[in-house]
Amino acid sequence: MSLEDSQEAVSAYLARQGHLATAGAFGQQHTSVSVYSPSTVVRAPEAVVRGRWSPVVGGFVGEELLLNHRRSGRDLGMQLGVSRYYGHDAVTSSAHSDLRERQDRAIDLPEPRRLKGGLTSTVTARRSGRQFSGRPSSLEELATVLWHAQGVTDSLPVPTAQDPDAGVPLRTVASGGGLYPVRLVVLAQHVKGLAAGAYEYQPHSHTLYPLQRTPEPVDLAGHLWTADVEVDKVAFALVHVYDLYVNSQKYGDSGLVFALIEVGGMSQNIHLARTALGMIACDQGGYDKQKLEKSLGYDGTSRHVVHFTLVGHGEV
Ligand SMILES: Cc1cc2nc3c(=O)[nH]c(=O)nc-3n(C[C@H](O)[C@H](O)[C@H](O)COP(=O)(O)O)c2cc1C
Repeated sequence: MSLEDSQEAVSAYLARQGHLATAGAFGQQHTSVSVYSPSTVVRAPEAVVRGRWSPVVGGFVGEELLLNHRRSGRDLGMQLGVSRYYGHDAVTSSAHSDLRERQDRAIDLPEPRRLKGGLTSTVTARRSGRQFSGRPSSLEELATVLWHAQGVTDSLPVPTAQDPDAGVPLRTVASGGGLYPVRLVVLAQHVKGLAAGAYEYQPHSHTLYPLQRTPEPVDLAGHLWTADVEVDKVAFALVHVYDLYVNSQKYGDSGLVFALIEVGGMSQNIHLARTALGMIACDQGGYDKQKLEKSLGYDGTSRHVVHFTLVGHGEV
């Protein structure tokens, strides 16, 4: 029997035995499956079942991470990792991170717009919006959102004997050690002057690098589990991709934690910029991570999709 057949057989059986779902839900809510259960009112059934019953996965992966994330003065790993990053080779590679950007097929972006509107009023006006109108965004609007998320704004001098002028480029958002392990991918649908397709934002040159040789529309709806957004009307989606080895060689397990903090900063800047531009956006937790990673060419091992946001114009 194939996996699909057996899934179908189980679903059909459960549909006939309605009381089992009720008993299962009760069991998930009222048995202690986690040391965090006192603080958890509603637990995701899939995660609970996996954590409790699967012989392969012994517990929640998040719980495992937190239980093992016990940084203390006795953990020399991170201290050794950090000390290595004062070496000439590490400093030089940070200072020349712009060389990682590819220019062969890069598309220049317009200068970002300098946004008006006070911080307090923009923060107050930021609301998730789901009623996209289908009106395209301009390339300048896309460039402005991207620049606020990752734009290069300064340079930190890190002179070494070999390179007295070395400087690490700094961006709009803080990053542990200035290593910037998160990249932004644009899935363009309706952006004037830009073929629908997937592009990586290159902050140093403020360019887009096409991920496909000939850009092709990305099937956004096929990657999302949303029911309350007309996905075809979204102007573009932004995908945050974490590159594990950019910062974990320095910070060990804290690399992931630091990266997620950075994603939060980028995400807030994206929302503030699009709010000031009069655009709407909605973060999406419900996406097919593996399918998306595969379609974008990320391995899902060292490079992970960690966040997904839809951006566009709302109905007036
Ligand atoms: C990581 C994350 C995932 C989210 N996933 C979804 C989602 O899948 N669908 C959705 O409609 N909203 C999603 N949201 C938006 C939240 O529902 C929204 O931020 C929350 O209701 C508060 O509303 P506000 O953003 O307007 O303040 C997500 C937000 C975050 C930060």
